[in-house]
Amino acid sequence: MSPVIAIDGPGAAGKGVIARYLAERLGWRRLDSGALYRAVSLSLLRADLVHAGETRIAAQLARHPPELGSAPDGEAIYLDGEDVSAAIRSEEVGVAASVVAPLAAVRDFLLPTQRSFRKAPGLVAEGRDMASVVFPDALLGIYLTASPEERARRRHKQLKQKGINANMRDLIRDLSDRDQRDSARSLAPLKVVPHAVVLDTTKLDIRQTRRKAWRLVTKVCPEKAAR
Ligand code: DC
Repeated sequence: MSPVIAIDGPGAAGKGVIARYLAERLGWRRLDSGALYRAVSLSLLRADLVHAGETRIAAQLARHPPELGSAPDGEAIYLDGEDVSAAIRSEEVGVAASVVAPLAAVRDFLLPTQRSFRKAPGLVAEGRDMASVVFPDALLGIYLTASPEERARRRHKQLKQKGINANMRDLIRDLSDRDQRDSARSLAPLKVVPHAVVLDTTKLDIRQTRRKAWRLVTKVCPEKAAR
């Protein structure tokens, strides 16, 4: 089986940036599992099924599965042939994703898609349950986190760059509501598994975080240390 590096943690902790960096440096594939949950949530929002029963939700997902682009990192994501890569990034879709993510109908539906990303030479997978459920045999698990205020600040900056206006107070509230839902659910809750290394980035900039993450990788893949 190809090796997997699992990066888990709460929203806006910097998982995407670090996963992209490690995947690029290793020459491995990347999986943004949150994008799949967001695409499912967009599909359910559009069909007005976010609060429907699991049977109707399962039927909608079977009829309208999100599809990942052919790029090795699956960067683009499609719904019924429409590129929804930008549409899934809104806060509304992120909040709805954390509402539907606890459902077995959604998690069971996405499990095989996520595992299908595991191909040679390796995979860097980011999400909430990468080390606990999807890839429990990961070579390395990193739990990336930061304080809620710092994560809200980063998300604010990210949204501003995309021309989206957001209020800091609303962002802090949305992020902590999502943390609460992601951690409290009974199926695949967000948690630190015993074999994961916690990396708190509250006081670290991107370069420092990259350096620390790379050091963890070279501990498990010493042959990469020289690169
Ligand atoms: O990482 P993100 O903010 O794009 O994820 C959006 C939501 O999707 C998150 O609040 C919970 C859910 N999610 C999940 O339950 N499991 C994953 N592996 C990834 C995301």
